[in-house]
Amino acid sequence: MNFITVKTYDELSTKAANIIAAQIINKPNCVLGLATGSSPVGAYDKLTEYCKNGIIDFSTVTSVNLDEYVGLDSSNNQSYRYFMNKNLFDRVNINKEKTFVPSGTADDIEKEGEQYDKLIKSLGGIDLQLLGIGLDGHIGFNEPDEYFTAETHLVSLDASTIKANARFFASEADVPTKAITMGMMSIMQAKKVLLIANGAAKKEILEKAFFGPITPKVPASILQLHPDLTVIYSEN
Ligand code: F6R
Repeated sequence: MNFITVKTYDELSTKAANIIAAQIINKPNCVLGLATGSSPVGAYDKLTEYCKNGIIDFSTVTSVNLDEYVGLDSSNNQSYRYFMNKNLFDRVNINKEKTFVPSGTADDIEKEGEQYDKLIKSLGGIDLQLLGIGLDGHIGFNEPDEYFTAETHLVSLDASTIKANARFFASEADVPTKAITMGMMSIMQAKKVLLIANGAAKKEILEKAFFGPITPKVPASILQLHPDLTVIYSEN
């Protein structure tokens, strides 16, 4: 594991964007695993800048996102598909048809999960998976549990996750209580994993996840077993 500590969010975002840019330059037809939330916004801004300046080209990149709220469709401005369009896809020259986010409005979420895993497999897996980390140690929406779940699956969000994500909604009551998330198999099979976390509030969970025992009670701890993991943390 490569654990990098930086001083500012801007520095974190530059380093993360540079790692993603290097991936795209090295393999123009790569598969990027992408995340939403507040952590990657700065990196997506930098990638947009690099694309506008001709440093990187998204035209042959494919992306697969980690997760989506159940019940929200792409036109809902709280959906993760909407977030990705706004923060990245609408700003770079990616082919939208090659950007995938699990559907939170599928009739059968279990089947949607199976199809999503098949899709990732058919793409040859993920070259670089970008992750954030929840205060409870979740990655994607893999919440603390008695076991790790391999496949893309339906989850009930923990009270702490609903509370943390309420900042993006009008009220806590508006936060969906269920989500569909990639499981640990696709994440752990990604060739490279890049996890970013900013703010002093994340320090304790990072210590548990990366310097404590590997346990499904701290889902991100499974990443200690990944052969090519980079973590970037900024206290501010
Ligand atoms: C988002 C995701 C989540 C977030 C995590 C941290 O697609 O999968 O695991 O990465 O909740 O969120 P922020 O970055 O808002 O602190």
